[in-house]
Amino acid sequence: MNLPPLSLYVHVPWCVQKCPYCDFNSHSQKGTIPEKEYIQHLLDDLKADLHLVQGRKLHSIFVGGGTPSLLSGEAYVHLLQQIEALIGFEDDIEITLEANPGTVESDRFKHYVQAGVNRISIGVQSLQSDKLKALGRIHGEQEAINAASEAHEAGLNSFNMDLMHGLPNQSLEDAMSDLERVIKLAPPHLSWYQLTIEPNTQFASKPPKLPEDETLWAIQEAGQALLQQHGYIQYEISGYAKAGLQCKHNLNYWRFGDYLGIGCGAHGKITLPEQNQILRTVKVKHPRGYMDLTKPYLYDSWYVEPADRPFEFFMNTFRLVEATSKQAFVDYTGLALSEIKNQLQHAFNSGLLEEREDSWFVTNKGHRYLNDLLELFV
Ligand SMILES: C[S@@+](CC[C@H](N)C(=O)[O-])C[C@H]1O[C@@H](n2cnc3c(N)ncnc32)[C@H](O)[C@@H]1O
Ligand code: SF4
Repeated sequence: MNLPPLSLYVHVPWCVQKCPYCDFNSHSQKGTIPEKEYIQHLLDDLKADLHLVQGRKLHSIFVGGGTPSLLSGEAYVHLLQQIEALIGFEDDIEITLEANPGTVESDRFKHYVQAGVNRISIGVQSLQSDKLKALGRIHGEQEAINAASEAHEAGLNSFNMDLMHGLPNQSLEDAMSDLERVIKLAPPHLSWYQLTIEPNTQFASKPPKLPEDETLWAIQEAGQALLQQHGYIQYEISGYAKAGLQCKHNLNYWRFGDYLGIGCGAHGKITLPEQNQILRTVKVKHPRGYMDLTKPYLYDSWYVEPADRPFEFFMNTFRLVEATSKQAFVDYTGLALSEIKNQLQHAFNSGLLEEREDSWFVTNKGHRYLNDLLELFV
């Protein structure tokens, strides 16, 4: 087994209010956020994981949520300084922070940059007020536009905008006009997600009227063409970026890289080559339990059995547009190629996968029937 790059995910669990479509681990903020206390918990949580990653440096950090932009610049100065002192950073580390328009007063991004953040991900979702309202967002279109100009001026290496489509009562024209307006704001990276109705959300109990399948398909096709026309290269199901500006952190997940996860409900995946094991970890989910000093941060952990590794590896790498490296499979799963010979043959015969000298390439059919392809490796 060989070690992949190491990332760190940091979860901030609070939001101003819960959006009706969201199933992320986020809680509406009641009163002031215990910022200092939480940062100290994050650092103690990290210290408890350090024995798993001795001698390694961080390739990327992603502070996600929830709404990380509810915490101050000073909080991140302290957090990032301490993380660097504990693990160490690769020279060109990418450090992303998720920010919601409506929570960032002017100059907030500059404070994050001073703390070491070099990439911001802005949750725009839509630029149409009726859609923002239907999505229960706290911001209006002007705040999203302002956030883009602040991001351009803050001295970041890059920034992302999250946009959703397939919204309640959205027509093809609505969706394209949203996308065109976001493209005009010139984010170097765009995540363009189709709205899904997740169990245990407000939308699941009271479903809104979503566009018909034909409209969803038309939006997908037209949107992909528009993005391509403006120089956004698709590299993952929902990920588009200008050349060379893909998100290193997400790429590391999808290439079956390693990551520590700290904060409420955070997941981690760490390769332990000496034991020929892959360890998965999950932290305590609710802020109250997580910050309870009498309890450990770790909620659960388990080893990924060799039999489960091919599926877990391909579930990530086949999301990407790039070919999957055979060497990465051997290095990161610790398995020989001969162990998946039959499944691969099946995938080639069904036209879902093609073989190249050093890699495998998911065909158009394979992307369309990704679940069928993945099922071969279960
Ligand atoms: C971790 S979430 C939230 C980040 C940030 N708090 C925000 O709301 O802007 C990252 C992104 O996932 C997308 N997302 C969340 N729930 C979704 C859903 N049910 N369907 C599709 N996309 C979703 C949104 O675009 C969101 O910005
Ligand atoms: S702001 Fe983001 S994380 Fe918070 S509830 Fe809304 S979508 Fe979820």
